Amino acid sequence: MEYFGMSTKICMGMDSLKELESIDAGQVFIICDPFMNHSGKINLITDILKKREIAYKVFDKIVPDPGIELVAQAVGELMDTTDTVIALGGGSAIDAAKVVRKIFEVSKNKKVQFIAIPTTSGTGSELTSFAVVSDEETQTKIPLVDDSLLPDLAILDCEFTMSVPASVTADTGLDVLTHALEALASTKANDFTDAYAIRAIMLVFQYLKRVVDNGNDREARMHMHNASAMAGIAFNQTSLGICHSLAHALGGRFHIPHGRSNAMLLPHVMEYNTYLDLDNKETIKRYAELARALGFGTYNDIMSVKALVRQVTKLIKSVNIPAYLDDMVDIKEYKNAIEDMAKNALADKCTITNPKQPSLKDLEKIYKNLVKQKI
Ligand SMILES: NC(=O)c1ccc[n+]([C@@H]2O[C@H](COP(=O)([O-])OP(=O)(O)OC[C@H]3O[C@@H](n4cnc5c(N)ncnc54)[C@H](O)[C@@H]3O)[C@@H](O)[C@H]2O)c1
Ligand SMILES: [Zn+2]
Repeated sequence: MEYFGMSTKICMGMDSLKELESIDAGQVFIICDPFMNHSGKINLITDILKKREIAYKVFDKIVPDPGIELVAQAVGELMDTTDTVIALGGGSAIDAAKVVRKIFEVSKNKKVQFIAIPTTSGTGSELTSFAVVSDEETQTKIPLVDDSLLPDLAILDCEFTMSVPASVTADTGLDVLTHALEALASTKANDFTDAYAIRAIMLVFQYLKRVVDNGNDREARMHMHNASAMAGIAFNQTSLGICHSLAHALGGRFHIPHGRSNAMLLPHVMEYNTYLDLDNKETIKRYAELARALGFGTYNDIMSVKALVRQVTKLIKSVNIPAYLDDMVDIKEYKNAIEDMAKNALADKCTITNPKQPSLKDLEKIYKNLVKQKI
């Protein structure tokens, strides 16, 4: 038996923040990064709270890929009287807030309402049971998975994403694509998750380049915001695959943004999961169907999958993501780290649902594709 369901209520569209005007909030603790506070974006929320005379406190110290110490610091600043935690930010702020709220609930034996307001269109964290926290000591990322981490309410208002710079828009948008493609190939995929994953992929192909070229394109921003959440719904049920396992280890070691790590690895992982091993017929069939739905497939499955990988590579290039790491990391250091990163990727929770179980050598080989010179 399989299950499909969502306990998170979703508010979407241009006026979705209005939901805050009527919810029962009690005392509020807002978790965000410094940009959200200093840019004044947070006022869209605090103005509503002030008008309703709701007491609130702001923790604005979230940094990309937050670590255990930062989470502990935020927990320390929570008031005992907090009734609602609002996470305002990208995956980093939402994931940190998930863990903060969980620790607080367990330590105070108290139920706390959790509202996620994403400001990037990428992780879909507002609709997932996943939280990724960094361990600075071991330079690894720890993916936590538990249904109790799910927000009660997700507010999808693309107004918050209008200021995302083009490079972050590209990175995070390709994270959406990776989530949906990995959900579609996952060993836990089903007809319901396919529906969300395929629609998310279509939206990314239609709107990502448009929004990277013109960040003021509100319509494209809105569709990318929905695509991010829809991919989140899909992978929350299916989990992910080795692209994320490899990206977690790469990002943890070399601090490359999460979406960018995925984007650089994605074509290589798609090849590995499909036509490099013709025994993996199920993924070939699924990706061929997707290629046909997107309009670049043929009657031949292998040709269709090759066309899909070509189009994915073209999209990645068109939003200025480099194919190689040579200008981003010290190559000697990278080569020396490959074995350790591959070990971490093999042990990552996301590897379990990859359509093909890799060996350590397979994963090392994929990492080697990211440098220009043969190693
Ligand atoms: N929980 C999940 O399901 C899940 C899934 C994938 C990734 N993740 C994790 O999420 C994190 C990445 O999240 P992300 O890609 O959203 O990036 P992020 O939250 O780290 O933000 C990236 C950068 O963009 C800035 N930013 C965010 N919103 C902005 C806005 N509206 N305007 C201008 N700048 C803005 C931030 O300040 C930051 O510098 C990683 O730690 C990753 O491991 C979680
Ligand atoms: Zn991701």
